[in-house]
Amino acid sequence: MSESNIFLDRSKLSARYIPNELHHREKEMSLLLTMFKDSYIKPDAFLFSTPQIIGRSGIGKTSTIIKFSNMLESEFTRAGLTLKVAYINLKLQGGNKYAVYRFLLEKIAPELPSQGLSAEEMLRYLLSYLYENKLYTLIILDEIEFLLRSNKDSGIIYDFTRLNEFDLSKHCNVIGVIFIARSTDFHDKIDSSELSTLGRIPIEFLPYSVEQISDILVTRSSESFNPKVVGTDIIDEVSLITTSSQVGGDVRYALDLLLYAGNLAETNGSDRITLEQIRKVHGYNRPSITIEDLKELPKSYLLTIMAILKVQSKRKKQYIELKEIRTFALELADEYKVKKFEFEDCMNDLLERKIIEMKSLKEIGMNITSLVELEPLLEQQINKK
Ligand SMILES: Nc1ncnc2c1ncn2[C@@H]1O[C@H](COP(=O)(O)OP(=O)(O)O)[C@@H](O)[C@H]1O
Ligand SMILES: [Mg+2]
Repeated sequence: MSESNIFLDRSKLSARYIPNELHHREKEMSLLLTMFKDSYIKPDAFLFSTPQIIGRSGIGKTSTIIKFSNMLESEFTRAGLTLKVAYINLKLQGGNKYAVYRFLLEKIAPELPSQGLSAEEMLRYLLSYLYENKLYTLIILDEIEFLLRSNKDSGIIYDFTRLNEFDLSKHCNVIGVIFIARSTDFHDKIDSSELSTLGRIPIEFLPYSVEQISDILVTRSSESFNPKVVGTDIIDEVSLITTSSQVGGDVRYALDLLLYAGNLAETNGSDRITLEQIRKVHGYNRPSITIEDLKELPKSYLLTIMAILKVQSKRKKQYIELKEIRTFALELADEYKVKKFEFEDCMNDLLERKIIEMKSLKEIGMNITSLVELEPLLEQQINKK
């Protein structure tokens, strides 16, 4: 059953959706699978590994690594072993070491208390927990650009590249840490001892060519739109726009263009997307949120946006802190009885869609002009859901 004349399944265009097929990342995927092959074949002889994935925004780094980690998880299961994957996005967790370790501990060993432990104790607990319970872990650290440096203690990168040296009497059951970043600029922020354990040679993800983007969009469109809604003229135009220097190869932008043009086509009652609609949406510069979009967003997203508006008006400033938004959003979720509220995921998605903007953890704002207008409309939508 399709959702409308236009959409088969709109959610397949969301940033949280990881497609089954990731065209043109086969080489990177198989390189990673080879690197980690022995981790499930000879787990106790496997040497801890710390690859770095480098490449610009929107070219499939996160998707490829998440998909790889799912495949690795299945290989572990097939071998009668358990792999727990911990994905940490530093943009949202903050580069704060203590917060990152606590998140890690809660994710991998929820039954262990993390209160009152030092950062180092948390890592020790984690490693012996994995060892005692015969569990393995892969850690993924995404968006390292957002790493904050405190000069008091050793950095996260230093700790994470030396997890295997923490307790030499036991095998380290963390099989690896994958670092993901936009460029190697973060090498300048870490000291030379960190850099030498990390290694200077990254796995580079190159931007897709026009042809590659077009292959990707054909598959993505077939999952999200009804047949014939997206013609080859549309695929060609969107692929060209995406590889322009203005957009810089960001596939997220291409998917957003299709989504917003699809919404437009739906509102206009057309049965296919036209080039004019694509150009119109592209002309808006970067798509931000419209009232029509609000109707499409899940309740938890609306609550997150609401939290931002409330904190903005309480603080009387445009840019506010992530911490405060989180607290407010959780209260709202409680009030509106949203049970499964995944704040981090909502924020991430809204950021990737450029609906909200983040300069730093302390400076988050909305990419929108008329705030006053938005609040009552938002409330109305939330109450409808
Ligand atoms: N090869 C691909 N096939 C299908 N979709 C892709 C592919 N590469 C990227 N995407 C999509 O583009 C968007 C951005 O990808 P992402 O992995 O988040 O990029 P990055 O982490 O490099 O910024 C996601 O919605 C993802 O699903
Ligand atoms: Mg990413």
